[in-house]
Amino acid sequence: MDQLNQHISKNKEQYLSELFNLLRIPSVSADPAYKKDVVKTAEFIRDKFIRAGAENVKICETAGHPIVYADKLFDASLPTILVYGHYDVQPAEPFELWDTAPFEPEIRITEKHPEGAIFARGACDDKGQMYMHLKAFEAMMETDSLPCNVKFIIEGEEEVGSKHLEAFVQGNKALLEADIILVSDTGIIANHTPSITVGLRGMSYVEVKVTGPNRDLHSGLYGGAVANPINILCDMIASLHDCDNRITIDGFYNDVEDVSDADRKEMAKAPFSEAVYRSDLEIKATHGERGFSTTERATIRPTLDVNGIWGGYIGKGAKTVLPSAAYAKISMRLVPNQTSEKIASLFQKHFESIAPESVVVEVKPHHGGEAAIVPTNFTGFQAASMAMEKSFGKKPIPVRSGGSIPIVALFEKELGLKTILLGFGLDSDLIHSPNEHYGVFNFFKGIETIPLFYKYYTELNK
Ligand code: BES
Ligand code: MN
Ligand code: MN
Repeated sequence: MDQLNQHISKNKEQYLSELFNLLRIPSVSADPAYKKDVVKTAEFIRDKFIRAGAENVKICETAGHPIVYADKLFDASLPTILVYGHYDVQPAEPFELWDTAPFEPEIRITEKHPEGAIFARGACDDKGQMYMHLKAFEAMMETDSLPCNVKFIIEGEEEVGSKHLEAFVQGNKALLEADIILVSDTGIIANHTPSITVGLRGMSYVEVKVTGPNRDLHSGLYGGAVANPINILCDMIASLHDCDNRITIDGFYNDVEDVSDADRKEMAKAPFSEAVYRSDLEIKATHGERGFSTTERATIRPTLDVNGIWGGYIGKGAKTVLPSAAYAKISMRLVPNQTSEKIASLFQKHFESIAPESVVVEVKPHHGGEAAIVPTNFTGFQAASMAMEKSFGKKPIPVRSGGSIPIVALFEKELGLKTILLGFGLDSDLIHSPNEHYGVFNFFKGIETIPLFYKYYTELNK
């Protein structure tokens, strides 16, 4: 390991400059305008895998954005780790809220990152974290210390629901055969408080349209006598939570996993300050389901949130109009045992049932995915825990996250494999927001920790 760490140390500038080049390509998966850049990013990663010494490196076309596959298989008697990551990023808009351009990476010091942080869209989610795996692999290859077989699958559609990866996994089960999946696309509590994510929430995402009259109307001539779809939509949305902030959809909580008091007590031991949380967000009070703590509300409980709402006149000045239609995008975060399809159909039934006769509602389901739980009593978790304990000098705390990586549940269903979520981001790294960044410390801590995971996992599974 000493030789490996020396090698990493010697190449720090090179690793950073390559990551900068990767971050300069705007691989926004949601926006067709960036299609060429998405392809360029896949090619960039392919080329780096070839240079790192991987074999069977290929770009796999899908009906959407391409998937990069690479492997290094040298001894069938040794375990195989399948590394997953994504090279696509969220749209950078609104551009004007960025202090520096989103695709021109720059290192700046922040309070949480005294050693500097890389500011760019995708720096943390997930280009920076994915690239740690490529460089860790290269370093192991160059120091002749790769202890086991490894396969990589890097996709370009995570931020839009991994639609085509699902078919790829179903159609390539032999190619993806492995013993464990390793993903760095989550976070730690703080740079001095390592943690391992052992739970992710699922997701059911729907779009609704409420239509009233067949055309926009003068709000003076018709207002008061014809249903205003925006008013109605607001009423309908408001009724989706009761006074305890519980979701009112019939059957919504039926399958929700009951977390035992003992487990809740254990979770509450993870360091968390409600006061710091509030002051960081500049809010006077938190808000959520009665009977649960802030951490619980954001991790082990399901939610329903409006992500966007529009309709009518939103231009400059005032226009008196009674709009013909109103729209909203609504996401529901799900917990273990809930199923995204069932929740989407419960939502649809409920939403249609509460619509007054004066309007017509349409519910269109978008993507969905299931929650995932990582057990802590198997060699995968033990190896991850040992690796972090060695690199951070502190035993990591298992924590459940509120975010979603739907492919994790799918890997388990289709390949029968558990996933280790060995992420290094901070909640404050502003992923999906303007000024996303990733700590230089975190980037190199990841590159240092990943080979340790390989080593311990191999030792525990020989
Ligand atoms: N990497 C995130 C998920 C994440 C971040 C999990 C931090 C835990 C901690 C991922 O790229 C993401 O943004 N997922 C989406 C879901 C997807 C279906 C669009 C999400 O959670 O909103
Ligand atoms: Mn991600
Ligand atoms: Mn993301």
